[in-house]
Amino acid sequence: MQIRTFALSAAIAQVATLVAADASAYWKSFTSQVDPKNITVPSIEQTASIDPAQECVYYNPETSLFTFKASEWPSIWEVATTNGMNETTEFLNLYNSIDWTKAPNITVRTLDGDGNLDTTGYDSTKDPDCWWSATTCTTPKISDVNEDISRCPEPETWGLTYDDGPNCSHNAFYDYLQEKKLKASMFYIGSNVVDWPYGAMRGVLDGHHIASHTWSHPQMTTKTNQEVLAEFYYTQKAIKLATGLTPRYWRPPYGDVDDRVRWIASQLGLTAVIWNLDTDDWSAGVTTTVEAVEQSYADFITMGTNGTFANSGNIVLTHEINNETMSLAVENLPKIISAYKQVIDVATCYNISYPYFEDFEWTNVLNGTKSNASGSATISGSDASASNVATPAAKVNASTSGAMSLIPNLVMASVFIAALLL
Ligand SMILES: *[C@@H]1O[C@H](CO)[C@@H](O)[C@H](O)[C@H]1NC(C)=O
Ligand SMILES: *[C@@H]1O[C@H](CO)[C@@H](O)[C@H](O)[C@H]1NC(C)=O
Ligand SMILES: *[C@@H]1O[C@H](CO)[C@@H](O)[C@H](O)[C@H]1NC(C)=O
Ligand SMILES: *[C@@H]1O[C@H](CO)[C@@H](O)[C@H](O)[C@H]1NC(C)=O
Ligand SMILES: *[C@@H]1O[C@H](CO)[C@@H](O)[C@H](O)[C@H]1NC(C)=O
Ligand SMILES: *[C@@H]1O[C@H](CO)[C@@H](O)[C@H](O)[C@H]1NC(C)=O
Ligand SMILES: *[C@@H]1O[C@H](CO)[C@@H](O)[C@H](O)[C@H]1NC(C)=O
Ligand SMILES: *[C@@H]1O[C@H](CO)[C@@H](O)[C@H](O)[C@H]1NC(C)=O
Ligand SMILES: *[C@@H]1O[C@H](CO)[C@@H](O)[C@H](O)[C@H]1NC(C)=O
Ligand SMILES: *[C@@H]1O[C@H](CO)[C@@H](O)[C@H](O)[C@H]1NC(C)=O
Ligand SMILES: [Zn+2]
Repeated sequence: MQIRTFALSAAIAQVATLVAADASAYWKSFTSQVDPKNITVPSIEQTASIDPAQECVYYNPETSLFTFKASEWPSIWEVATTNGMNETTEFLNLYNSIDWTKAPNITVRTLDGDGNLDTTGYDSTKDPDCWWSATTCTTPKISDVNEDISRCPEPETWGLTYDDGPNCSHNAFYDYLQEKKLKASMFYIGSNVVDWPYGAMRGVLDGHHIASHTWSHPQMTTKTNQEVLAEFYYTQKAIKLATGLTPRYWRPPYGDVDDRVRWIASQLGLTAVIWNLDTDDWSAGVTTTVEAVEQSYADFITMGTNGTFANSGNIVLTHEINNETMSLAVENLPKIISAYKQVIDVATCYNISYPYFEDFEWTNVLNGTKSNASGSATISGSDASASNVATPAAKVNASTSGAMSLIPNLVMASVFIAALLL
């Protein structure tokens, strides 16, 4: 398998340099029936459901908005090369447009018997591959790859992020964020996006920053070059199909990224967003206690006022996933808002004007009065160009001014949230 893959890449290496430039335009061939500046989420039961324990029931999206042929996509929740997706003309054209002779020759990692990454034999002191899972490294050891983002540069700033959506029964949580005027970076799983496209549409409609969280949520360093490329590619395509937007940012599941994976992400213009605080909220009541996660939240809230973030901010790992994680968020967000100067999405805290490839300007710029940040914040890779970094102009209004037919059931949501707080 490895040898065949290498032989194939060697065979196309001769022509690769001629067509390599095409890889960066891959997103232009994606299609979507959704205008991200004018989204109307159809009102069906599951776009209004506020029961976080409700299991989603498949619905047929309106074909005027979303047309999905399962035969043209990887199998849901399986590695994105499944269903023959590594052999389509479209995928092979992309694959062959990349000059794999330049890819770092880094070992594909393995999992141990418990499903954990096996770091045996890896030199964590030298950390030659900037392997986050081994060392939490975020600064690549090789050039020409996008450096990870892992903390908002501004002091006392909470970078708000939620992983693993979308999900059709999380509307009360989205209503709550809306009520509090909070925008988050939402890292969506491709398989969830094609299952629950209205959820993804709502994310954009509400003004959240949408980014990729891969197709099937694997430990990416354990996947071959071809699999890694497919995990990225089909997620990009899915998010575009559902929302009209193609992300420039992604978050590695489990934080698992090394310079090989970064290099492949960079071929698609993607930059990794890690975190510097991890609530472990997913583990509450699963592998740890709710109290333990509450303590993490409490500590991170204290850090907002005790000087920990006097010179720079954070990005915090939290999840939509389930009622427990959403309840913890709803309970703690008021305290977070009090303790920090600002609670904002990652596109905003990095002044990223174009978090997508499309012409969709990000208007939630930082409050101009908080202009003290050091100039040392680096925005790497595709976002380094001046045109992608917002000037401190006073911009107003949210990016989504479109019609809104999704009725935010605020009364019901308040009741629900009140129940959560008990
Ligand atoms: C927005 O969408 C609605 C319905 O989907 C359509 O009637 C309207 O013309 C659109 N507006 C613009 C400015 O595209
Ligand atoms: C596609 O993936 C399958 C299963 O992993 C593999 O057998 C096949 O060789 C791959 N095709 C190409 C063109 O790499
Ligand atoms: C990649 O590294 C392996 C050892 O880890 C080596 O056997 C192989 O020859 C290298 N391939 C290339 C193309 O350098
Ligand atoms: C701030 O609070 C955190 C969490 O309680 C603690 O770990 C840290 O040591 C505190 N820092 C300072 C400077 O007091
Ligand atoms: C959606 O979320 C609910 C609870 O929040 C969970 O039980 C369910 O498994 C999720 N469904 C999917 C497909 O992620
Ligand atoms: C959601 O979690 C809260 C807090 O743990 C709990 O009180 C409530 O009963 C849960 N709701 C559902 C529908 O599971
Ligand atoms: C911007 O800063 C001003 C002055 O500190 C404050 O009143 C206002 O609420 C801030 N706005 C936002 C959106 O943070
Ligand atoms: C973002 O813009 C603000 C002013 O609008 C500026 O103070 C800050 O340094 C910028 N931050 C970054 C990371 O570029
Ligand atoms: C902002 O700048 C002023 C003047 O340069 C300085 O005294 C102050 O400490 C800075 N504040 C922060 C939070 O960097
Ligand atoms: C922003 O919103 C306000 C209130 O809805 C409106 O009056 C104003 O014209 C809007 N500004 C822009 C630039 O769209
Ligand atoms: Zn995840």
